[in-house]
Amino acid sequence: MATIHGELKPSPRILLGPGPSNVNSRVLKAMTTPMLGYLDPEFIKIMDETADMLRAVFCTKNTLTFPVSGTGMSGMEAALCNLIEPGDEIIVCVKGVFGGRMADIVERIGGKLTVVEAEWGKIIPPEKVKEALEKVKAKVVAIVHAETSTGVLQPLDEISEIVHHHGALFLVDCVTSLGGQPVDLDGRGIDIAYSGTQKCLGGPPGLAPISFSQRAMEAIKNRKTKIQSFYFDVNLLERYWSGEQRAYHHTVSMTMVYALREALRIVLEEGLEARYARHQRNADALKAGLTAMGLKLIAQEGYRAPMLTTVAIPDGISDANIRKALISEYGIEIGGGLGDFAGKAWRIGLMGESSTQSNVLLLLSALEKLLSREGYKVESGIGVSAAVRIK
Ligand SMILES: Cc1ncc(COP(=O)(O)O)c(C=O)c1O
Repeated sequence: MATIHGELKPSPRILLGPGPSNVNSRVLKAMTTPMLGYLDPEFIKIMDETADMLRAVFCTKNTLTFPVSGTGMSGMEAALCNLIEPGDEIIVCVKGVFGGRMADIVERIGGKLTVVEAEWGKIIPPEKVKEALEKVKAKVVAIVHAETSTGVLQPLDEISEIVHHHGALFLVDCVTSLGGQPVDLDGRGIDIAYSGTQKCLGGPPGLAPISFSQRAMEAIKNRKTKIQSFYFDVNLLERYWSGEQRAYHHTVSMTMVYALREALRIVLEEGLEARYARHQRNADALKAGLTAMGLKLIAQEGYRAPMLTTVAIPDGISDANIRKALISEYGIEIGGGLGDFAGKAWRIGLMGESSTQSNVLLLLSALEKLLSREGYKVESGIGVSAAVRIK
């Protein structure tokens, strides 16, 4: 006899990790909208509206802007497998886990990989990209905007100029930054960008917004070999997501498109500038509070991402005890360290709906209480008072 398990009843959580972030109830409600057929004219209108609002958030006029089915990683795979043919010279900037994953995928596709590296916690200096481009005639230069493993926000303008000066395409991972920091595809000359729905866009995980410039599309049309992936082939996806005559490619998740559409409506109602300012303000308050408590921020000063803060775990403090107690006593999730920072850092996300002043103050007081219990010396209330001084 099969066991019929109980109804779903997860405990309430404040999601302050590296994603997913909390989802607005309007988005959850949109997810209960009934299914439509994948070529129903009403669904096509919903797809067009979603793509239109995505263009506004990416700040682009690129026709080929749509959400790829799958999480952020599907955006990474789709971006790389459409552009790269076996033997193509590709430069990947690696300063954390996600740059490392792009490099891995380039090799799987058969691209000739050149890695430009920076120490974990630091940005990639533009001169290093220039040096690499002087050595190899690269087709694509790929970089992560907000590296979620280190909390570094990579400046893009100078690198974009260098990349275009050398005739390469500029590919940017905006999984963590989109909706929380300006990405500005057209202004910055980004040719291909992909993101995820579950971070600063404030949706559930499951779609990867992506955008290809005209130049990127030309490079794809000029390929000599067939795109290895059927599922991610943008020539086929284009016929489903744009144009007068739509053709079936795969059954998209209507539910996820409804969710993204509602999340984008919320982003645009708030306004991009106001949203970026909110992310920055709450991050400044969190960073001020953590610093006042004597904790050490890891990411390079001046380049700290507002949506993800990495903080060193003080000596003698148990990573597991603190994170377990945050969940069980306060319902708060924060992230553990990833890659080189595993066991050494916490990753605190303030993304989308989760980026609020009350979450910052609650986390700082919870951390103070739990750290003191573990024997860490911290003056009572010092983190919260530093945070509330940030306007
Ligand atoms: C910068 C970056 N790129 C890619 C990904 C992969 O996204 P997903 O886990 O949604 O597949 C993540 C996830 O955290 C990320 O932070």
